[in-house]
Amino acid sequence: MGRIQLESVSKMYGNTQAIEDVDLDIADGEFLVLLGPSGCGKSTLLRLVAGLIQPSSGRILLDGNDITAAPPRSRDLAMVFQSYALYPHLTVAKNIGFPLRSRRFSRTAIADSVAAVAATLDLSELLGRRPAELSGGQRQRVALARAMVRDPGAFLMDEPLSNLDAKLRSATRTELIELHRRIGATFVYVTHDQVEAMTMATRIALMDNGRIEQVGTPAELYDTPRSTFVAGFLGAPPMNLFDATVTESRGELHAVAPGVNIPLGIEADSHPEHPIVVGIRPEKMQVVDTHAHVEAVVTTVENLGSEELIHIRAGSNPLCIRAPRPSNTEPGAPVAVSVRPEDVHLFDRDSGRRLMWTPENTPARTGTPLFVA
Ligand SMILES: Nc1ncnc2c1ncn2[C@@H]1O[C@H](COP(=O)(O)OP(=O)(O)OP(=O)(O)O)[C@@H](O)[C@H]1O
Ligand SMILES: [Mg+2]
Repeated sequence: MGRIQLESVSKMYGNTQAIEDVDLDIADGEFLVLLGPSGCGKSTLLRLVAGLIQPSSGRILLDGNDITAAPPRSRDLAMVFQSYALYPHLTVAKNIGFPLRSRRFSRTAIADSVAAVAATLDLSELLGRRPAELSGGQRQRVALARAMVRDPGAFLMDEPLSNLDAKLRSATRTELIELHRRIGATFVYVTHDQVEAMTMATRIALMDNGRIEQVGTPAELYDTPRSTFVAGFLGAPPMNLFDATVTESRGELHAVAPGVNIPLGIEADSHPEHPIVVGIRPEKMQVVDTHAHVEAVVTTVENLGSEELIHIRAGSNPLCIRAPRPSNTEPGAPVAVSVRPEDVHLFDRDSGRRLMWTPENTPARTGTPLFVA
């Protein structure tokens, strides 16, 4: 079992607030990814769960038991670090068996467990070698095997793939997904790589500045980001974000900015002008001949092979379109773009929070402006 709960957990380093009032409930068997920019507190949060450091306040529960003060050894968790931390003088077999030897298992029990885990991770042929005689990916698998041999309730991993080259990284990513499916244990996985997060996570907790900005499935974070921070973090190229104003025209709300006038499909008899940030994903903008919502000028066109990235300027705002190739657009030429109302994300300019409405709650019916989610 491996349900992990954090309740109002904070961590101060002197005057630095590394973690601020984090609540997180990780279900047994989840693959939860802690994602966020450098310095946002991902490793600190993982080390708190591992028991390597103590929270300044708050509680940590494992399967309902308060483990806040429990030493790391007594927690049913295995940690895998970016640096592998293998013992260079020991063979692969001895490295993998190490956690069992230090727990005084019998020789035969250790040999059986090591053989079973090595077979799972395709390491059987390498058991006699030392770490220096292995590739980066093989070392990574040995570190994983050493974590697995104890059969822990949960695996805690801090950027375990960051030392691998791009090809090996993608292969190991697939292996980890399969491994998780097969053994069904809880994985808590730290990365700043959004592709790793999107492909591996059952849920992502996106962190910023010591806080969790949004928790949800990869699709939830991508499709309904709660804030401009989440909107701008996930997606490559990132979501187009620009300042605009919501105004009412002929009974409908529009998002208006220089070169931009997008009907939002929201009825309104009258609506106060509201400063907003508009978000549109590059793949949701279509180059058209007529009925443009955005009138812009092409600045550059990047050929990605199957697609093109068309960089445009609307007013003073640089925007990016992802379109099938060839788009027949030319640098310096004017371009017309259409956007569907449902593909427009609206955020409050002051708070950066997502603005919402529901069909029953449109401004026309209730007279209330867009509200902050
Ligand atoms: N031992 C420490 N003493 C003082 N400050 C620390 C310590 N460890 C981390 N910090 C600070 O706490 C904050 C969070 O650090 P943390 O290592 O958790 O970030 P991270 O999200 O893992 O970043 P990265 O992606 O670069 O690994 C940072 O501002 C960091 O400088
Ligand atoms: Mg870190």
